[in-house]
Amino acid sequence: MELNDTITHDETAPAEAATASSKKVFMKTYGCQMNVYDSQRMSDALAVEGYQPTETIDEADLVLINTCHIREKAAEKVYSQLGRLQKMKKERAALGRDMMVGVAGCVAQAEGDEIIRRAPVVDLVIGPQTYHRLPDVVRKARAGEKVVETEYAVEDKFEHLPTAPRKVVRSRGVTAFLTVQEGCDKFCTFCVVPYTRGSEVSRPVAQIVAEARQLAEAGVREVTLLGQNVNAWHGEGPAGAEWGLGQLLFELAKIPGIARLRYTTSHPRDIDDALIEAHRDLDILMPYLHLPVQSGSDRILKAMNRKHTAADYLRLIERIRAVRPDIAMSGDFIVGFPGETDEDFDATMQLVREVDYAQAFSFKYSPRPGTPGADLGSHVVESVKDERLQLLQALLFKQQRDFAASLVGRELDVLVEKPGREPGQRVGRSPWLQPVIVDENAGEIGDIVTVRITKAGSNSLFSEPV
Ligand code: SAH
Ligand code: SF4
Ligand code: F3S
Repeated sequence: MELNDTITHDETAPAEAATASSKKVFMKTYGCQMNVYDSQRMSDALAVEGYQPTETIDEADLVLINTCHIREKAAEKVYSQLGRLQKMKKERAALGRDMMVGVAGCVAQAEGDEIIRRAPVVDLVIGPQTYHRLPDVVRKARAGEKVVETEYAVEDKFEHLPTAPRKVVRSRGVTAFLTVQEGCDKFCTFCVVPYTRGSEVSRPVAQIVAEARQLAEAGVREVTLLGQNVNAWHGEGPAGAEWGLGQLLFELAKIPGIARLRYTTSHPRDIDDALIEAHRDLDILMPYLHLPVQSGSDRILKAMNRKHTAADYLRLIERIRAVRPDIAMSGDFIVGFPGETDEDFDATMQLVREVDYAQAFSFKYSPRPGTPGADLGSHVVESVKDERLQLLQALLFKQQRDFAASLVGRELDVLVEKPGREPGQRVGRSPWLQPVIVDENAGEIGDIVTVRITKAGSNSLFSEPV
C-alpha cells in the first residue's frame, strides 16, 4: 500500500529566515503503516531539537522524505520527488534562504550514499535501524556535513526516540499505530524487506504496555499493533513466561480506554494457538485479519520461499473461522512471479474464490535488486502480468462489494473518528475497517456507536441511527 502524493509548491508563503527556535520540518511519507508510525516518532524526536512540523513545504527548513523500496515504482518516485526539491532549493538559495533535504526509510537503507550521488540535493540519508540517531544526524548536516547513517544497530532501535507528549497524541486522533516488532527473517524471494528492515526484533512487553497506556490516556480508542511480521513477536511475560502475540493481546485488552485492537501484517507460518484463542475470547480484537498469501499455486509458493502450501493457508483460515465466524479476511497477492503459468494463476483465482476476501491488495511482480527472484529466468511478459492483474482485481473487487452489500440492513458498532465532508456528518470505521458515514448526533468523536447500515457506496457505508 503506497500513499501516493506529490509535493505542492505554495508561491505565496512568507520568505522570512528561520530563527533557531522556529525551525520547521516538512515530512512526506510513502509505503506501509510502519513508515507512518516511524514518521510520527521522527517528528517527535525533531520537535525536541526545535523543529515544528509544517504542512507547507515553502516554510520548511528541513524536508524529510520517508521512502518505500518494495516495488520499483515506489523507489523511483523518490528520485522524481528529489528532482523537484532540487529546483525548489535553487529558488530558495536565490532568495538567500536555505533548505535541508533528508531521505529516510527503506530506499535510504537499500541505496545509502548512492542517493547523494544520484541526487546531490540530499543532505542526509538515514535508515530505519538508526532513527534513534536522527537528532545527531540533523545537527551534523546543519553544520554542512553530508551524512549517511545506515549502519545497523537493531537492538537500539526502539530505545532512544522520545515518545510523543500527550497533547501531540491527542491531536492525532482516536486511532493509533504501535510498533511491536520490526524486521523479517522469512526471505521471500521477491521481497526487499529483510534487507531494508533487518532481522526480526521484538519490543519488550513493558515498553509496549507503557506506550499503549500513554495512547489510551491521550484518548486513543483503537490501537493497531504493527510489525513486518507482527505475529512473529515474542517476549517475556510475568515469571519468565514465553509470550507470543496472542498473550500480548490479552494483556493489552486490560488497559482502560482501549476499545479496539488490531494487528498487521501477519505471516501464515506464525499463527499459533494462543493467537487463535485471542480471536475466540477477545471481543475487542476486531474480526478482521490481513493474512497475505501471494499465490494459490504450491509450485509458485515454493519458488517464493513462503514455506507453506495453499492448503495450509486454507486450513488456517478454517480454524480461525471456526472460533470467530464473523472474521473478514484480507490478503496480498503477486501476479507474474517468474515462471508463473496460466495454471498457476488459475490456482490463485481458485484460492481467492474459496477464501472470499473482504478486502485485498494485489500487485504485479516487480524484480528487486539483490533479491533471489530478480535472478530467476522465465520472467512473465508485462502484457500477461497486466491481464492477470486485471482478472484478479475484478474478482477481488467483486468480493469486496458483495461483502459491503451483505452488511446493508445490519446493525454495526462504529468507532466515530472524525468530522465528515458534509455538514451534519461524521466518519467512523466498521469492525472491518470500512469507513461508515454516521449522523453527527449519533455520537462524539471517540465514541463507539451502534448504527444500521442503509447503503453500501463504492468506498464507504452509509448508516442511520438505531
Ligand atoms: N510483511 C508483509 C508484507 C510485506 S510488503 C508480509 O509478509 O506479508 C507488502 C506486500 O507487497 C507483500 O505482501 C507483497 O504482496 C507485495 N510485494 C512485496 N515485494 C514485491 C515485489 N517485489 N513485487 C510486487 N509486489 C511485492
Ligand atoms: Fe517480505 Fe516475505 Fe518478510 Fe513479508 S514475510 S516482509 S513478504 S520477506
Ligand atoms: Fe515499503 Fe519498507 Fe514498508 S519497503 S512497504 S516502507 S517496510
